[in-house]
Amino acid sequence: MKLPDQARFSTICIHAGQEPDPTTGAIIIPIYQTSTYVQEEVGRHKGYEYARTQNPTRFALEKNLAAIEGGKAAYAFASGMAAIGAITSMLKSGDHMVVTDNTYGGTFRLFERALRQYQLSFTYVDTSRPEAIEAAIRPETKMLFIETPTNPVLRLTDLAGACEIAHRHDVRVIVDNTFASPCVQRPIEFGADMVVHSTTKYLNGHSDSIGGVVVAVRDEDIEWLKFIQNAEGAILSPFDSWLVLRGTKTLAVRMAQHNLNGQLLAEFLEGHPKVKQVLYPGLPSHPQHELAKRQMRGFGGMIAFDVGTKEAAYSVCKRVRLMALAESLGGVETLISHPAAMTHASVPPERRAAIGLTDSLVRISAGIEDPADLIDDLRQALD
Ligand SMILES: Cc1ncc(COP(=O)(O)O)c(C=O)c1O
Repeated sequence: MKLPDQARFSTICIHAGQEPDPTTGAIIIPIYQTSTYVQEEVGRHKGYEYARTQNPTRFALEKNLAAIEGGKAAYAFASGMAAIGAITSMLKSGDHMVVTDNTYGGTFRLFERALRQYQLSFTYVDTSRPEAIEAAIRPETKMLFIETPTNPVLRLTDLAGACEIAHRHDVRVIVDNTFASPCVQRPIEFGADMVVHSTTKYLNGHSDSIGGVVVAVRDEDIEWLKFIQNAEGAILSPFDSWLVLRGTKTLAVRMAQHNLNGQLLAEFLEGHPKVKQVLYPGLPSHPQHELAKRQMRGFGGMIAFDVGTKEAAYSVCKRVRLMALAESLGGVETLISHPAAMTHASVPPERRAAIGLTDSLVRISAGIEDPADLIDDLRQALD
């Protein structure tokens, strides 16, 4: 089995990093559930000494994810937050980071409540405005951390433009690509230096694992990530590595259906009299629809919509029958949530207001069910 050099996306997803198991020829990488490896004599071994440092199942996933994102190397962590934490460990006290103002609530919490204690500073700006990025960069700025589309208001950042500005100031660009998935958007192609994912979401895709990954392109970043993964030890387990590997094999076909269902639900919602506004990059009414067409292949499965009042939003969340009321996203089953009270409850109300995250907003992570069933469910909940 040899992956052709010019292999296309879905082929890469299925085959990259997937050598048949050397012992048995098993086509699927086994779960190497071991803590250590027997050595032949002191200093003579097969390249595996201790499983925090080396594990074949995790290595296979890391190779697979590096190829899928178009990076040089990848490191898998125990959660998306652990992966983001590993990136921030590159900073030294006094350093500064510019961050998308509508970043995931847990990222904001890590930066503000934990990392500020180490004399790191953060400026949150609307990165959809290039002039806001430029204005926020200071001599001590080392990183620009972007989420696009943002959660849950689905605002986009022009990745090529943002990378051009940051690199002019010698600032690293990190993109949290969890919301889009590498099937929809590959930030390294636009110049990003590192891509981070919560693999919990689309990459695993089946709502049965928590994990994270950092994909990097620069040698010094790769060296540090490898070091810190082992030094801090927040590794992804063999079983979770195996689950995510199984997930990436179907990433392309799953994303095609997520994209379709996202589009159809957004169009249905836009035509419903009780819905005031729909936020979805695939709708011509989205203010950055043209950028979405340039930067994304498909528009993803995340939709947010405004039903006018908090009571109406709670009512929709309560009345759906097929959709599950739950946090998280990117799984095969459709989830609905109330971001202000759930995923973004840790974001102070005045910050929520500043980014347009109102109490009347409902978020949907469109799964891959038959779209007609999802539309029927939403119709009965809204009516
Ligand atoms: C965009 C984004 N980044 C990072 C995370 C954190 O990932 P995890 O929950 O796997 O730690 C999440 C989780 O919801 C997320 O939505």
